[in-house]
Amino acid sequence: MSQPKVLLLGPPGAGKGTQSSNVVDEYGVDHVTTGDALRANKDMETDHGTPREYMEAGELVPDPVVDEIVRAALEDTDGFALDGYPRNLSQAEYLDDITDLDLVALLEVDREELMARLTGRRICDGCGSNYHVEFNPPEESGVCDGCGGELIQRDDDDDETVRERLDVFDENTQPVVDYYDDEGELVRIDGHGTPDEVWEALHEEIEAAT
Ligand code: AP5
Ligand code: MG
Repeated sequence: MSQPKVLLLGPPGAGKGTQSSNVVDEYGVDHVTTGDALRANKDMETDHGTPREYMEAGELVPDPVVDEIVRAALEDTDGFALDGYPRNLSQAEYLDDITDLDLVALLEVDREELMARLTGRRICDGCGSNYHVEFNPPEESGVCDGCGGELIQRDDDDDETVRERLDVFDENTQPVVDYYDDEGELVRIDGHGTPDEVWEALHEEIEAAT
Protein backbone atom coordinates (compact mmCIF):
# COMPACT_ATOMS: atom_id res chain seq x y z
CA MET A 1 0.00 0.00 0.00
CA SER A 2 1.28 3.47 -0.75
CA GLN A 3 1.61 5.85 2.17
CA PRO A 4 -1.43 7.96 3.09
CA LYS A 5 -1.69 11.59 1.98
CA VAL A 6 -3.56 13.31 4.77
CA LEU A 7 -4.57 16.96 4.98
CA LEU A 8 -5.39 18.18 8.48
CA LEU A 9 -7.53 21.30 8.56
CA GLY A 10 -8.59 23.18 11.65
CA PRO A 11 -8.34 26.49 13.45
CA PRO A 12 -5.26 27.48 15.45
CA GLY A 13 -5.03 25.16 18.47
CA ALA A 14 -7.32 22.47 17.06
CA GLY A 15 -4.54 19.88 17.42
CA LYS A 16 -3.19 19.70 13.85
CA GLY A 17 0.41 19.46 15.04
CA THR A 18 -0.44 17.02 17.82
CA GLN A 19 -2.33 14.69 15.48
CA SER A 20 0.21 15.06 12.66
CA SER A 21 2.79 13.52 15.02
CA ASN A 22 0.51 10.51 15.42
CA VAL A 23 0.13 10.13 11.65
CA VAL A 24 3.91 10.32 11.26
CA ASP A 25 4.52 7.73 14.01
CA GLU A 26 1.90 5.34 12.67
CA TYR A 27 2.66 5.50 8.95
CA GLY A 28 6.22 6.82 8.75
CA VAL A 29 5.14 9.67 6.47
CA ASP A 30 6.58 13.20 6.37
CA HIS A 31 5.10 15.99 8.48
CA VAL A 32 4.74 18.92 6.11
CA THR A 33 3.89 22.01 8.11
CA THR A 34 4.17 25.55 6.85
CA GLY A 35 4.05 26.93 10.40
CA ASP A 36 7.18 25.06 11.53
CA ALA A 37 8.96 25.76 8.24
CA LEU A 38 8.25 29.47 8.59
CA ARG A 39 9.27 29.55 12.26
CA ALA A 40 12.60 28.01 11.27
CA ASN A 41 13.06 30.76 8.64
CA LYS A 42 11.44 33.75 10.31
CA ASP A 43 14.03 36.27 9.19
CA MET A 44 14.41 34.99 5.64
CA GLU A 45 14.30 37.94 3.22
CA THR A 46 11.66 37.48 0.54
CA ASP A 47 10.13 39.80 -2.07
CA HIS A 48 7.39 40.32 0.52
CA GLY A 49 9.54 41.05 3.58
CA THR A 50 10.29 38.51 6.31
CA PRO A 51 7.81 35.89 7.62
CA ARG A 52 8.31 37.27 11.13
CA GLU A 53 6.38 40.47 10.55
CA TYR A 54 3.28 38.58 9.42
CA MET A 55 3.50 35.79 11.98
CA GLU A 56 3.93 38.02 14.99
CA ALA A 57 0.84 39.95 13.92
CA GLY A 58 -1.13 36.72 13.44
CA GLU A 59 -1.55 37.45 9.72
CA LEU A 60 -1.01 35.12 6.77
CA VAL A 61 2.42 35.07 5.15
CA PRO A 62 2.01 35.88 1.40
CA ASP A 63 1.03 32.98 -0.86
CA PRO A 64 4.17 32.80 -3.06
CA VAL A 65 6.31 32.15 0.02
CA VAL A 66 4.17 29.34 1.45
CA ASP A 67 3.26 27.83 -1.92
CA GLU A 68 6.96 27.33 -2.63
CA ILE A 69 7.59 25.76 0.80
CA VAL A 70 4.83 23.21 0.18
CA ARG A 71 5.82 22.52 -3.43
CA ALA A 72 9.40 21.76 -2.41
CA ALA A 73 8.34 19.67 0.61
CA LEU A 74 5.89 17.54 -1.35
CA GLU A 75 8.20 17.01 -4.29
CA ASP A 76 9.96 13.96 -2.89
CA THR A 77 7.30 12.58 -0.57
CA ASP A 78 5.22 9.49 -0.92
CA GLY A 79 2.77 10.01 1.94
CA PHE A 80 2.47 13.01 4.24
CA ALA A 81 0.55 14.74 6.99
CA LEU A 82 0.00 18.27 5.70
CA ASP A 83 -0.72 20.79 8.46
CA GLY A 84 -1.28 24.54 8.22
CA TYR A 85 -1.77 24.69 4.47
CA PRO A 86 -3.92 25.59 2.53
CA ARG A 87 -5.17 28.60 4.47
CA ASN A 88 -7.03 30.44 1.71
CA LEU A 89 -8.71 29.53 -1.57
CA SER A 90 -5.78 30.43 -3.76
CA GLN A 91 -3.53 28.07 -1.75
CA ALA A 92 -6.19 25.35 -2.03
CA GLU A 93 -6.20 25.71 -5.82
CA TYR A 94 -2.41 25.60 -5.91
CA LEU A 95 -2.41 22.42 -3.84
CA ASP A 96 -4.94 20.83 -6.20
CA ASP A 97 -2.48 21.34 -9.02
CA ILE A 98 0.50 19.71 -7.30
CA THR A 99 -0.89 16.67 -5.47
CA ASP A 100 -3.90 14.51 -4.74
CA LEU A 101 -5.13 13.69 -1.23
CA ASP A 102 -6.47 10.53 0.38
CA LEU A 103 -8.17 12.29 3.28
CA VAL A 104 -9.15 15.84 4.17
CA ALA A 105 -9.94 15.91 7.89
CA LEU A 106 -11.27 18.93 9.77
CA LEU A 107 -10.58 19.01 13.52
CA GLU A 108 -13.49 20.90 15.07
CA VAL A 109 -12.96 22.68 18.41
CA ASP A 110 -14.90 25.61 19.89
CA ARG A 111 -13.30 29.00 20.38
CA GLU A 112 -13.15 29.01 24.17
CA GLU A 113 -11.24 25.72 24.19
CA LEU A 114 -8.91 26.99 21.44
CA MET A 115 -8.02 30.06 23.52
CA ALA A 116 -7.18 27.86 26.52
CA ARG A 117 -5.10 25.45 24.46
CA LEU A 118 -3.06 28.13 22.71
CA THR A 119 -2.32 30.39 25.65
CA GLY A 120 -1.23 27.32 27.70
CA ARG A 121 0.87 25.69 24.99
CA ARG A 122 4.61 25.26 25.51
CA ILE A 123 7.13 24.13 22.88
CA CYS A 124 10.52 22.53 23.43
CA ASP A 125 13.26 24.88 22.28
CA GLY A 126 15.41 21.85 21.46
CA CYS A 127 13.29 19.24 19.68
CA GLY A 128 10.01 21.09 19.04
CA SER A 129 7.85 18.72 21.14
CA ASN A 130 4.49 20.11 22.09
CA TYR A 131 3.16 20.45 25.68
CA HIS A 132 0.37 22.20 27.54
CA VAL A 133 0.72 23.55 31.07
CA GLU A 134 -2.57 21.95 32.08
CA PHE A 135 -3.69 19.44 29.42
CA ASN A 136 -0.33 17.85 28.62
CA PRO A 137 2.24 18.93 31.22
CA PRO A 138 5.85 17.72 31.23
CA GLU A 139 7.08 15.67 34.18
CA GLU A 140 9.21 18.57 35.35
CA SER A 141 7.82 22.07 34.83
CA GLY A 142 9.54 23.93 31.98
CA VAL A 143 11.69 20.94 30.91
CA CYS A 144 11.14 18.66 27.89
CA ASP A 145 10.54 15.00 28.84
CA GLY A 146 12.21 13.82 25.63
CA CYS A 147 15.40 15.85 25.27
CA GLY A 148 15.66 17.93 28.46
CA GLY A 149 15.35 21.16 26.43
CA GLU A 150 13.74 24.35 27.74
CA LEU A 151 10.00 24.79 27.19
CA ILE A 152 9.08 28.16 25.77
CA GLN A 153 5.93 29.96 24.64
CA ARG A 154 5.45 30.64 20.94
CA ASP A 155 5.69 34.35 20.01
CA ASP A 156 2.17 34.29 18.58
CA ASP A 157 0.50 32.54 21.55
CA ASP A 158 -0.28 35.68 23.55
CA ASP A 159 -3.93 36.53 24.09
CA GLU A 160 -4.21 39.32 21.53
CA THR A 161 -2.38 37.52 18.70
CA VAL A 162 -4.38 34.33 19.32
CA ARG A 163 -7.62 36.31 18.86
CA GLU A 164 -6.31 37.75 15.61
CA ARG A 165 -5.27 34.29 14.34
CA LEU A 166 -8.72 32.91 15.10
CA ASP A 167 -10.31 35.82 13.21
CA VAL A 168 -7.95 35.24 10.26
CA PHE A 169 -9.02 31.59 10.23
CA ASP A 170 -12.71 32.52 10.15
CA GLU A 171 -12.18 34.98 7.33
CA ASN A 172 -9.61 33.20 5.12
CA THR A 173 -9.59 29.50 5.96
CA GLN A 174 -13.26 28.80 6.57
CA PRO A 175 -13.80 29.20 2.78
CA VAL A 176 -11.20 26.42 2.31
CA VAL A 177 -13.23 24.18 4.62
CA ASP A 178 -16.36 24.98 2.59
CA TYR A 179 -14.44 24.29 -0.65
CA TYR A 180 -13.55 20.72 0.39
CA ASP A 181 -17.00 20.24 1.90
CA ASP A 182 -18.66 21.26 -1.38
CA GLU A 183 -16.43 18.77 -3.22
CA GLY A 184 -17.72 16.07 -0.83
CA GLU A 185 -14.17 15.43 0.35
CA LEU A 186 -14.35 16.72 3.92
CA VAL A 187 -14.45 14.48 6.99
CA ARG A 188 -15.31 16.24 10.26
CA ILE A 189 -13.70 15.05 13.46
CA ASP A 190 -14.71 16.18 16.92
CA GLY A 191 -11.48 17.65 18.29
CA HIS A 192 -12.70 18.14 21.86
CA GLY A 193 -11.75 14.74 23.28
CA THR A 194 -8.36 13.81 24.67
CA PRO A 195 -5.52 13.65 22.14
CA ASP A 196 -5.84 9.84 22.19
CA GLU A 197 -9.59 9.95 21.55
CA VAL A 198 -9.12 12.35 18.65
CA TRP A 199 -6.37 10.13 17.24
CA GLU A 200 -8.62 7.07 17.44
CA ALA A 201 -11.23 8.84 15.32
CA LEU A 202 -8.66 10.16 12.85
CA HIS A 203 -6.90 6.81 12.55
CA GLU A 204 -10.20 5.13 11.67
CA GLU A 205 -10.82 7.68 8.94
CA ILE A 206 -7.35 7.23 7.46
CA GLU A 207 -7.77 3.47 7.43
CA ALA A 208 -11.16 3.81 5.75
CA ALA A 209 -9.76 6.18 3.11
CA THR A 210 -6.67 4.21 2.08
P1 AP5 B 1 0.81 27.46 12.42
O1 AP5 B 1 2.06 27.09 13.08
O2 AP5 B 1 0.25 26.58 11.36
O3 AP5 B 1 -0.26 27.69 13.56
P2 AP5 B 1 -1.84 27.48 13.64
O4 AP5 B 1 -2.58 27.04 12.45
O5 AP5 B 1 -2.28 28.78 14.22
O6 AP5 B 1 -2.01 26.26 14.49
P3 AP5 B 1 -1.26 25.90 15.80
O7 AP5 B 1 0.07 25.32 15.49
O8 AP5 B 1 -1.29 27.07 16.75
O9 AP5 B 1 -2.26 24.82 16.40
P4 AP5 B 1 -2.38 23.27 16.09
O10 AP5 B 1 -3.69 23.02 15.44
O11 AP5 B 1 -1.15 22.73 15.46
O12 AP5 B 1 -2.52 22.73 17.59
P5 AP5 B 1 -1.49 21.94 18.52
O13 AP5 B 1 -1.45 20.52 18.12
O14 AP5 B 1 -0.21 22.67 18.68
O15 AP5 B 1 0.92 28.92 11.78
C1 AP5 B 1 1.52 29.98 12.50
C2 AP5 B 1 1.60 31.22 11.60
O16 AP5 B 1 2.42 30.92 10.46
C3 AP5 B 1 0.29 31.72 11.00
O17 AP5 B 1 -0.39 32.57 11.90
C4 AP5 B 1 0.80 32.45 9.75
O18 AP5 B 1 1.34 33.69 10.09
C5 AP5 B 1 1.92 31.56 9.29
N1 AP5 B 1 1.47 30.53 8.33
C6 AP5 B 1 1.51 29.16 8.52
N2 AP5 B 1 1.00 28.52 7.46
C7 AP5 B 1 0.63 29.47 6.57
C8 AP5 B 1 0.02 29.44 5.29
N3 AP5 B 1 -0.31 28.29 4.70
N4 AP5 B 1 -0.23 30.61 4.68
C9 AP5 B 1 0.11 31.77 5.24
N5 AP5 B 1 0.67 31.90 6.46
C10 AP5 B 1 0.94 30.76 7.11
O19 AP5 B 1 -2.29 22.00 19.91
C11 AP5 B 1 -2.44 23.24 20.61
C12 AP5 B 1 -2.29 23.01 22.11
O20 AP5 B 1 -3.37 22.22 22.58
C13 AP5 B 1 -1.02 22.26 22.53
O21 AP5 B 1 -0.55 22.79 23.74
C14 AP5 B 1 -1.47 20.81 22.69
O22 AP5 B 1 -0.68 20.13 23.66
C15 AP5 B 1 -2.91 20.99 23.15
N6 AP5 B 1 -3.80 19.94 22.65
C16 AP5 B 1 -3.79 19.38 21.42
N7 AP5 B 1 -4.78 18.48 21.30
C17 AP5 B 1 -5.45 18.50 22.48
C18 AP5 B 1 -6.60 17.81 22.98
N8 AP5 B 1 -7.25 16.90 22.21
N9 AP5 B 1 -7.02 18.08 24.24
C19 AP5 B 1 -6.35 19.00 25.01
N10 AP5 B 1 -5.26 19.67 24.59
C20 AP5 B 1 -4.82 19.45 23.34
MG1 MG C 1 0.68 23.53 14.76
